Amino acid sequence: MLLPAGCPPTIAASPSVPTLLPHSLLEQRLRQAVLQVLPDARPDGVKVRPCPDPKHGDYQCAALIGLAKEARKNPRELAAAVSAAYAALRAGSGEEGVEAGLQIEIAGPGFLNFRLAPEALLSAVLDASASRFLEPAAAPRTVVVDFSSPNVAKPMHVGHIRSTALGDCLSRVLRALGHRVITDNHLGDWGTQFGKLIVGWKRHLHRDALERDPIAELERLYKLENAAGEADPARLDQARQELVALQAGDPENLAIWREMIRLSQAQFDALYGRLGVTFDHTLGESFYNPQLPGVVESLVSRGIARESEGAVAVFSDHTLPAKEDPFLVHRDGAWADDPALVRKSDGGFNYTTTDLATLEYRIRTWAPEEILYVVDDRQAPHFRKLFQIFRRWQPEAEARTVLRHIGFGKILGDDGKPFKTRSGDTVRLAELLDEAVERARKLVDEKRPELPPETRGEIARIVGTGAVKYQDLLPNRQSDYIFSWDKMLALTGNTSPYLQYQCTRARKVVADGGAVDIAALRGVTPTEPAEVALLKHLLLYGLTLESVAAECRPNYLCNYLYDLAGHYSRFYESCPVLKAPEPVRSLRLALCGFTARVLSHGLGLLGIESPELM
Ligand code: ARG
Repeated sequence: MLLPAGCPPTIAASPSVPTLLPHSLLEQRLRQAVLQVLPDARPDGVKVRPCPDPKHGDYQCAALIGLAKEARKNPRELAAAVSAAYAALRAGSGEEGVEAGLQIEIAGPGFLNFRLAPEALLSAVLDASASRFLEPAAAPRTVVVDFSSPNVAKPMHVGHIRSTALGDCLSRVLRALGHRVITDNHLGDWGTQFGKLIVGWKRHLHRDALERDPIAELERLYKLENAAGEADPARLDQARQELVALQAGDPENLAIWREMIRLSQAQFDALYGRLGVTFDHTLGESFYNPQLPGVVESLVSRGIARESEGAVAVFSDHTLPAKEDPFLVHRDGAWADDPALVRKSDGGFNYTTTDLATLEYRIRTWAPEEILYVVDDRQAPHFRKLFQIFRRWQPEAEARTVLRHIGFGKILGDDGKPFKTRSGDTVRLAELLDEAVERARKLVDEKRPELPPETRGEIARIVGTGAVKYQDLLPNRQSDYIFSWDKMLALTGNTSPYLQYQCTRARKVVADGGAVDIAALRGVTPTEPAEVALLKHLLLYGLTLESVAAECRPNYLCNYLYDLAGHYSRFYESCPVLKAPEPVRSLRLALCGFTARVLSHGLGLLGIESPELM
């Protein structure tokens, strides 16, 4: 799926030399130059990044200003000395590559601006194309990604798209950069709700309804018992007893519970199949049950948790300023305790207890450098407490692992309130995807009536599903966004149908143009500004993925691809491809091919397919 048919053959790079992108090559030499001038400087902070204003150059280094301050030197003088050292090193190395025709300028208070020659830009793009325009991470990390994690016996609803799309995209990007990624779907498959569900199952189950729509039936049972429990304390007590029996391993209750999980898992699998999402593990909360008593004992024996009103809880240790302390809340003008419960007064365990056991297991089993929890922002207080408790409980393990809550906002309707159906119910994910595909189908039917119906159906599936995901990944993840069918399915603007369309257009040109001898393009000089702008943008793909991974922000990739499509459009409008004389024709055809490849690869990392035609 990632490398579409009809693209120019990739050039053979010598496999022993990993291709570095220009910013890395410049950076390497610049660090050497800095060390020659300032032998005590720490070179890691010396970065070469795209120039914020392309008028001033292609790449820029801003680090010398800070280094000059530290070394008490005049920044512009330092920049001049470093630039001279750079030139000498470059002359001494005897190899030119991307630096052939390189211009370095000192600007403003001490910036270094780099401008590549057009031939060198092309040459760098040809090199980069052999390695998908990205660089593998110099220090690959093991990263556990906890995402999606719906609750058993409930339908997946529109809100689940967020954790699922974000987590899947981040996992794909991290993998593409060469990190070792372990995805784990932490299903809510245990907890007090099963008491009510079991009572409901035993009293009111409709077998035929269960067969028709298992999740709807389980939901009905739960709602029924929930209402019954509110009206009648005896029913609530019965639910509690069934829960205790389940926890004690009662065979009948265990069998019912397993059946509920099986039915839910089938629903989840169908949805994940439609979304193209897979997990390495689906351990679920119940997996950690045997560990929970030990977790609480250990917390108590180390003085981290203590008894409080019959329950066991963790309180503030007052090592943090009150404002940053997750175990304190400001209430009525004073700071009050906001403890995390790890055992209830009835002996049951809490969400936090399970998450502590999970954390311990993950670190012991996979030794990750990082764990990402892709969970909505409302759970931020839970994660702040969890991470704090873990630090107090297992300081050595905590020091080796970066724990990050990757939060996100809500999906809103037109009225600015959480997105609901017209009758006020939550929107089921399955129905939402159905509607997206149906609406896409109408558009495809209108635009391409000549295509066979199966082809139109396939395009509609890809476009509709992609539109839902892209709408979700495009906003800054912490902002709420307004759900809009019209916006997400528009063929213009920053949408996935637009990107998919540009991708098929570029592929079409490539298919019409025939094979290109890429090796023959070395030494060709791109002269049109639109060609040069497109080349430069192609070289920023890898850096973009690195910032997506570093900040866990897929929106950077969306915006990069949208800009790429824009550069491509401008290029395509101002530069005829198939009618151009050689070698310009080949150069332009190659540019179409590279654009198509990066667009479809990037969409693929967003978890979005690109159709063959549209
Ligand atoms: N099942 C939880 C919910 O629906 C999300 C679990 C997130 N992951 C975790 N390790 N707590 O709210």
